[in-house]
Amino acid sequence: MIRIDDKHFETFITHDEILKEVNALGATLTQDYSGKEVVFVVVLNGAFMFASDLMKSTDLPCDITFVKVSSYEGMETTNKITESIGLSMDISGKHVVLIEDIVDTGNTVGYLKDLLEKLDPASVEICSLLFKPEAYKGSSEIKYVGFSIPDAFVVGYGLDYNGKGRNLNTIYQFKN
Ligand code: IMP
Repeated sequence: MIRIDDKHFETFITHDEILKEVNALGATLTQDYSGKEVVFVVVLNGAFMFASDLMKSTDLPCDITFVKVSSYEGMETTNKITESIGLSMDISGKHVVLIEDIVDTGNTVGYLKDLLEKLDPASVEICSLLFKPEAYKGSSEIKYVGFSIPDAFVVGYGLDYNGKGRNLNTIYQFKN
């Protein structure tokens, strides 16, 4: 059990379990994108740690670029997306893998996928470490998912609560 500010969190997914799953995702991407030019578009801030481990576990000619959006304040989604760093790379003709830490309502990936598809890429797929199927309201397929989890707030391995906990190498779930 750990405490961040006023909240308690308990161990949910250990670092070993995370790495095992990330390596499996990397192997799947290596197979699916064999012979293709891939660009990972990483959603900051939360997905930076996942993206780093995932990229190391793929064996592909690939590049990486970042976008920064946010929709969460504390433990609540605001249903409003704020874009603070836009896409700086030309993705036309490229196979894009959009890398998220977690897909909750799906507002963020839905918004980004629409935006990317207008830029003439060869394809766009979504890869998220975590997915909350009960909270999902989107229509896009989340093709690559590490773990499907219940609709509870989680922190660690890049994910934060109030800007804290991103450095934890285990994923913790909100308790009380
Ligand atoms: P969505 O737009 O509702 O799918 O939310 C996606 C974004 O909300 C993620 O990129 C995270 O930044 C944040 N988020 C959603 N659920 C959690 C959570 O359980 N812990 C930490 N951040 C979360």
